[in-house]
Amino acid sequence: MRDVYVIGVGMTRFGELWESSLRDLFVEAALAALDDAGNAGEHLSSMYVGCMSSGLFVGQEHIGPQLADYLGRIPIPATRVETACASGGAAVLHACLEVAAGVSEVVLAGGVEKMTDGADVTSALATAADQEYEAYHGVTFPGLYALMARAHMHRYGTTREQLARVAVKNHKHGALNPKAQYPFEITVEQVLNSSRVADPLRLLDCSPVTDGAAAVILASEEAARRAGSHPLIRVAASAQATGTIALHSRADITRLDAVEQAAKEAYRQAGITPDKVDVSEVHDCFTIAELCVMEALGYTEAGKSGPLAEAGETNIGGRMPINPSGGLKAKGHPVGASGAAQIVELVHQLRGEADGRQVENARIGLAQSMGGTGASCTVHILEGVS
Ligand code: COA
Repeated sequence: MRDVYVIGVGMTRFGELWESSLRDLFVEAALAALDDAGNAGEHLSSMYVGCMSSGLFVGQEHIGPQLADYLGRIPIPATRVETACASGGAAVLHACLEVAAGVSEVVLAGGVEKMTDGADVTSALATAADQEYEAYHGVTFPGLYALMARAHMHRYGTTREQLARVAVKNHKHGALNPKAQYPFEITVEQVLNSSRVADPLRLLDCSPVTDGAAAVILASEEAARRAGSHPLIRVAASAQATGTIALHSRADITRLDAVEQAAKEAYRQAGITPDKVDVSEVHDCFTIAELCVMEALGYTEAGKSGPLAEAGETNIGGRMPINPSGGLKAKGHPVGASGAAQIVELVHQLRGEADGRQVENARIGLAQSMGGTGASCTVHILEGVS
């Protein structure tokens, strides 16, 4: 298999974007990524689009050809990829495979979601849980993650304040990101006093409902060197794993087995250990998710993530900076786009162009994206090589 490089990235602003349709959002992000990739975009020969539920959110399926058409790229192959909230990460993975296999020189991978057009968002999102055994009984994602939070608190003594610290940190970072949906800082007290969504999770523990798109251009080494205008960013690992769709099927609901598996494979591909990662973008759809993911990625032992968050170790400037973009919590979570947007942020970080939120000397970045309560998971490791 050949090495794969990221040669272009682009994304829309995230938020409640009434003025833009799903196709507008995707085309804006894709054109920005192609522009960033310079002339290499002329050789684009395939595209993958991550999208969780355009059918339920805006009544449009079959978006591969729709988006290729409006991007002006017919007749290249255009395929939609769906793994719930990890769809953008999975699109990147499939694009990487196509380049690595030598089938294509330049491939676009993106993600898009238009969630605020009036659909019943909570019900649409709940289709990514187990309908018969979870959703039909009234438990939706805030409830499922609340169960995980309760179990983590019970087993490890994780506190409500430690959960709040995750949101405070991600909003602090998001305030530095001009593309973020909620670019403002919050306090622990505001989190603790925000309205209860699913006990113990409150409004400010939750990622929001968001419109947005992100896109990445992947290329062979030869095409990357020809493109030439940016520092080279190599995809050191691209891994995916699967866990049970239903929470009750797991032996321990504080553990994310699919994240552990995908991370293990990613570290193997990259030939590194977790301590070598300089900056991470992880799937903080709820504050508890970021803590469980830190443990599954091997950044700390089971039960130790809360104290690390509380001590500020995951802040920009801390020992293991997590979600410098503001994460899903503050940047926003257009579900099918989030995995691709994580790669966009890492590329800015590794190129040293993340402005006020730059992690100093970042050379290795990790992106972790997951669908449902972690049933689908992708992990990518990027390395700045020049
Ligand atoms: N973080 C911060 N502020 C938020 C917010 C969030 N997650 N969600 C909404 N707000 C703000 C809104 O901007 C609004 O502020 P305003 O009154 O100043 O305009 C206010 O809170 C109320 O917004 P509203 O849209 O009425 O909130 P809601 O109660 O309908 O929805 C949640 C709030 C938390 C239920 C919703 O954001 C949600 O479902 N999030 C989880 C999404 C999810 O499950 N994603 C998939 C993960 S697996």
